[in-house]
Amino acid sequence: MLRVIRISSLLLLALVAGIWAYAWVTKGPQETLGEAFASRLAGVFGQDMAVPSAGGGGLQTPGGISLGGPFELVDQSGKTVTERDYAGRWLLVYFGFTYCPDVCPTELGTMASALDILGAAGEAVTPLLVTIDPQRDTPAALADYVPRFHPRLQGLTGTPEQIAAVARRYRVYYARVQRPEMTDYLMDHSSFIYLVGPEGRVRSLFRPEMTPEQIAAAVEGQMRAALRAGS
Ligand code: NI
Repeated sequence: MLRVIRISSLLLLALVAGIWAYAWVTKGPQETLGEAFASRLAGVFGQDMAVPSAGGGGLQTPGGISLGGPFELVDQSGKTVTERDYAGRWLLVYFGFTYCPDVCPTELGTMASALDILGAAGEAVTPLLVTIDPQRDTPAALADYVPRFHPRLQGLTGTPEQIAAVARRYRVYYARVQRPEMTDYLMDHSSFIYLVGPEGRVRSLFRPEMTPEQIAAAVEGQMRAALRAGS
């Protein structure tokens, strides 16, 4: 019996290692290794982990922990903001950094286009960029950056501890990468757009390859469901 368990756990380990290697090889230019792994893993285990949706209770991790919740950050004007400042509003939240060469600008552009498609309904949604590079992304740097994407996009930064705390609540992966041939460092980071409901919990996650049309339709669907549920 023990031996069977040992062999099956070895097989599982080999399977996970294999998926990791497969993710490494097939990783697209827009994906981080972490994202590629999550999506290949989801593919193998038959769960759509990357685009889940939830009602008023919010999305939960397999451990039963809700994504989202309280935070304290600093906006691009230097003012301290918390989740209470956004109570009752829908949010589209993206975690990234202003030095990002390609993925962040693409995703922020997608988010802005989704808002444009939503039109008047989009007025109820506040788009947020939360930096995972607080060292370089000061309020002034964010104030300069966010209007390039959308007039209502707000940039949020904070101390490294505040950023780590909000990233934990949203299960955001980020890590500093220093390549020898580069003078500036980069940030490796997961790249999902989060739809947060009026109660501050994550309702949906949007993968990087989703189109503005798909995101707008999903946001509209969640808003309509919330109206029906009276939440
Ligand atoms: Ni980026």
